[in-house]
Parts: sequence; C-alpha cells; structure tokens
Amino acid sequence: MDKLKIKGGHQLFGKIYISGAKNAALPLICASLLTKDRVTLTNMPVLSDIRSMNALLEQLGTIIESRDEVVDGNPSKMYTFKTDKLSSLVTPYDYVRKMRASYYVLGPLLAREHYVELSLPGGCAIGARPMDIHLSSLEQMGASIEIKNGYVIAQAPQGLTGAHLIFNIASVGATCNILMAATLAKGTTIIENAAMEPEIGNLANMLNAMGAKISGIGTPILTIEGVNELHGVVHKVIPDRIEAGSYAVAAAITRGQIELMNAQAETLQTPIKILRAMGVRVTENPHSILVDAQGCHLEGKDIMTDYYPGFPTDLQAQFMTLMLTAEGASMITETIFENRFMHVPELMRMGANINVHGHASAIVRGVKKLYGAQVMATDLRASFALVLAGLIAEGETIVNRVYHLDRGYEKIEQKLRGVGADIVRLKDDEE
Ligand code: EPZ
Repeated sequence: MDKLKIKGGHQLFGKIYISGAKNAALPLICASLLTKDRVTLTNMPVLSDIRSMNALLEQLGTIIESRDEVVDGNPSKMYTFKTDKLSSLVTPYDYVRKMRASYYVLGPLLAREHYVELSLPGGCAIGARPMDIHLSSLEQMGASIEIKNGYVIAQAPQGLTGAHLIFNIASVGATCNILMAATLAKGTTIIENAAMEPEIGNLANMLNAMGAKISGIGTPILTIEGVNELHGVVHKVIPDRIEAGSYAVAAAITRGQIELMNAQAETLQTPIKILRAMGVRVTENPHSILVDAQGCHLEGKDIMTDYYPGFPTDLQAQFMTLMLTAEGASMITETIFENRFMHVPELMRMGANINVHGHASAIVRGVKKLYGAQVMATDLRASFALVLAGLIAEGETIVNRVYHLDRGYEKIEQKLRGVGADIVRLKDDEE
C-alpha cells in the first residue's frame, strides 16, 4: 500500500488543472448501457474508481476503447463504450464491495433488459447508506424486487412504466438511477425532490443528447417522458467541483495563491462564500477560479453541510482542516452522512483542537501549529484533509492508505508538487 510523505511549511503558488468529475463520470459510464450504439466520454479523469467501473462494464459485455487526449489544456482520457449485447446481468459482490457506485448499473440494466441482479452494498466508512429510495422507486415503476443471498434481484418482464415519485431525501444516487431507468419506461415519470447536484445535470444532458426527453434539469422536479430507444453520443464530463474545492483549500491553508484552471465557479458558490467570509480573496473567471490567501488573516466560520446548492459534505473534512488555521471557533455540522468525522482523531494526533458533539457537530478552534505525524483515513475526502494538514504541519507527515486518494484525486502528488509542495509517494516498505 502506497503512502504519501509530506514536508510541511511551503506556500503554494501556481496553476492546477482540474480533472473531469469522478461523480459525474461514474453514472455517465453506466448510462452507456442504455444503448447498443457507441457512447464516447471525453475529459474522463484517470482514477481507480473509473477503472473499477470500466471493469464492471466489461464483465457485463461492454467493449471499451480508450485514448489519451488534451481537453482545455488538461491531459485526460477519452473512452468509447459499446454494448451490443449484455453477456451478464449480474453485478457480483466483488465489484460493489470495491465501489458502491456499481449500483448505477441497476437502472440502465432493468430499463434495457428488464432484469438485473446486483449485490447489495453494505454500510461504508461514512455511514449506513441504504438504497431504499432506489428500490422503492423502481417498485413504483412496476419492477418486482427481491433480496436474496445479499443480492437485489429486480425484474420487470413487461418493462418499466412511468410513475409519480416523491423522494423523501434528495438522494444523488437514486436521482441518477431513476433518471436512467425512466428514459426507457413506458409513459411519463416525475421525480419530486430530485437532487440538483451539477453531476445530475451532466447526466440528464447526456441522456437528452441520446434521445431521452427530460425536462426540469437543474430543478428539484424532473419530468422524463419515456422513449423506445436511445442512440449513441459524444459527451464531455464536467470539471470536478470537489477536486477544485479541495485545491482551493490547499491555497488558503498555505496562505498561497492558486488558479484552478477549468473550475466552474457557479458550482462552488457556497464554499466560495465561506472562503470569502473567512478572509480569502476569490476571483471568479469564466474558465478558472483564482484563490489568493497571501498575507490573509483568516477568521473561523460555521459550516453546515446540505444538499446542493448547500455546502457539500464532500468538502467538509477539508474545510475543517482549514478552520484549524483560522482565528476563533468554527462549528461544523454534518447533516448528510452519520459518520463523517473520521478524520478528527487523526487531526488531533497532529495537534488539532476539535471537540465532536455526538455524530453531527464539531467545534474547531484555531491552533498555532500542527505537527507532522503518521496518519491514515478511512475515506477519500478525509484523506485529503490529512494531506492539507501535512502541507502546513511542522516536520514530516506520512499519509497512509493512499488508495483512498487514488479513487478520486487524479495525480494528486504531481498536482501539488507543481505548485510547490514537498510531497512524494512511497511504496509500503520505503521510509
Ligand atoms: C453521492 O453519494 C456521492 N457519490 C458522494 O460522494 C457524496 O458524498 C453524496 O452523493 C452526497 O453529495 C457518488 O456520486 C458516486 P446520496 P450517494 O444518495 O449518491 C441517504 C465522495 O467522496 N439515502 O445523495 O450515495 C444516504 O444514506 C462521495 O466522492 C437513503 O437513506 O449519496 C445519505 O445519508 C462519498 N436512502 C443521504 O441519503 C437511499 O436510498 C444522501 O445520500 C439513498 C440515500
């Protein structure tokens, strides 16, 4: 297992190119299953989660080709997916265990083949994460659902039919899955209280370009008129707003200045508002965001995570680390997942002053200094929070279990080294 060694104390300056969004790319890959035609995705990030999803599709019968490309100045991948015929309708535990987002095959396979077997994902490091909304919605669309030996067996021999669905939670995953399923259902599906994350807009726009009829994109009410078939498309993955937000914090925490190339400021309005309220200068350009914290004296601010356009849970850990360098106290409240403070004990080992109250809130107090240590995290965003702490800590920090970071941050050490960080990747037995 690789680890990262960081020597803290360098201000970061320069440009970082933001990659395509992991959480947009994953459902887009699965949407390719809705047609026999060729689906080409550009601006794809190079990440282990993408490799895992591709492996799952290959197991189902998809032929995948890839080539390198440069999109908006950023080296990335272009993938072509073609699924003439499904050779399997089963997603085994091994895929789901590695990556929960494997459940995005549920909607497309049920819509196209009227049958799917999917190993049910269990809880994970950040919470219980049930799938009840996905499953009950498919039932309302005429599917029969059975849970057997850890698998969901979903079938709709006559095909899915449109339904009026009201989600009790604006779930990102359920919105994507049902959106994909509804494109080929008979009649009209309405999703009320749909999630509004930009990744959903990216998916809905691609589905429309494939021949689907989705309206209400970007609003909490999506209306999908079912069509008989979808066709191929060439579609671009949007830039990763969470990667951009994470590197914005890297600039702020080191009191440096980084231009986040290709980042879309309109998808980061709440985090930008918090950065500005803390005292960071943020300039929104048409194709970049400039984050400048040189000479800034930061003030703590309260944050509460929420559904988009609220503050993203996927930036909570990173902002918590930033608050350690601000004056005064900040209250961080996590409302989306019930177990997303796993970074706190590790930050405490580096000298942080954080008091967690129950599962949902934490008081963070600014400290004079953090100290390098051996740390590890149990999820992707928490791992980035530890990298941020390492960037400002006195001495050397070793972040273990880098595989979490490799799931969602493309070339993390190259990108950080490019703006002046002292960070290297070590193999398990290296010191
Ligand atoms: C997506 O997860 C993202 N994953 C997560 O990214 C992100 O944290 C999350 O949305 C919230 O923004 C991908 O896009 C692959 P949800 P998802 O369904 O879809 C509950 C990262 O670091 N819920 O919106 O699983 C659920 O337990 C990650 O990149 C139900 O109760 O999130 C949670 O409390 C991790 N029943 C809340 O809703 C359901 O059927 C929101 O979950 C579905 C969800």
